[in-house]
Amino acid sequence: MTTIVMTGGSSGFGAIAAGRLVQSSDTRMLIGARSPSADTVPLDLTRLDSVRAFVGSVRERLDDTRIDALLLNAGTVLPNDGGRTPDGYETTFAVNHLAHYLLLRLLLPALADEARVVLTTSGTHDPATGASLATPRHADASLLAHPDRDPDRHTQPRKAGEHAYTASKLCSILTARSLHAHPDIRSRHITVIPYDPGQVFGTGLARDLAAPLRAAWAVLGTPLGVPLRRFNRNLNTRAGAAQALANLALGATMPPEGQTYAALRRGRLTWPDPSALARRDDLAQALWHDSARLVGLPG
Ligand SMILES: NC(=O)c1ccc[n+]([C@@H]2O[C@H](COP(=O)([O-])OP(=O)(O)OC[C@H]3O[C@@H](n4cnc5c(N)ncnc54)[C@H](OP(=O)(O)O)[C@@H]3O)[C@@H](O)[C@H]2O)c1
Repeated sequence: MTTIVMTGGSSGFGAIAAGRLVQSSDTRMLIGARSPSADTVPLDLTRLDSVRAFVGSVRERLDDTRIDALLLNAGTVLPNDGGRTPDGYETTFAVNHLAHYLLLRLLLPALADEARVVLTTSGTHDPATGASLATPRHADASLLAHPDRDPDRHTQPRKAGEHAYTASKLCSILTARSLHAHPDIRSRHITVIPYDPGQVFGTGLARDLAAPLRAAWAVLGTPLGVPLRRFNRNLNTRAGAAQALANLALGATMPPEGQTYAALRRGRLTWPDPSALARRDDLAQALWHDSARLVGLPG
């Protein structure tokens, strides 16, 4: 039996991946979702107390069973960086990075030897990808949690919102970098993969953006968007992004020696280097320790 714990498995391409994983033989899925159903475990990533309760429920259901794959796929995009969670942190950073960091830290002891951890990130963290979003200037957890303290905060709310998103996705890759160096992860041969699905139209990711963007996101997710794929290697289908995620979860696709960052390009997994900031050990270490402080854990 393969046991998989997942966030972001309730809609978007994550729901397709979860469906495929459930169909694959002998797989048990524990999916955290904010609109709980009989098949999911309650989880609202805007609240750190909900993350702690989720981990408690998962551990109870697992009993002594170990987790073979942990998929941290939930994510949000907001029109600005003005939202604050009940814990007082900027919402995009809190959901995409901080809540997942806490979840990961609390579930690390429950991972099986040779387990896989997949953190869904985004190529938009990297200026070289050429996305039109504001790219991250730093991964300072205190400033990302409290952008009003950032002296270089974008003055345009839309750009500030984009920065919150791309910086949160930089944080996913830096967290993976810290995990690679973690003695427990190394000794138990756990594989950690930051996964960029490329651009996947037609999911719910644009739900909080302005109406024209929402409409374009939906239309480009229909067959009308297919011709664009010829001109842009970053564009992928929901089914393609889901299958790549499912393959990583099951260990059917593994990183080549020396590479860890998986990027889906023209429907195929590639293993490029992430951005220069994402390769900085000093940033990874600082983020790990500062995130621990923000969620109340020892560094
Ligand atoms: N689509 C793209 O072009 C693209 C590109 C790069 C990276 N990504 C990343 O890929 C992942 C999946 O995105 P998607 O495009 O499939 O978007 P989506 O359809 O919006 O799916 C996002 C998932 O995250 C969950 N989620 C969001 N906020 C949550 C919260 N506060 N608590 C618990 N769960 C929450 C959603 O739950 P609900 O079902 O309750 O909404 C949903 O399951 C995200 O991490 C996204 O950043 C997407």
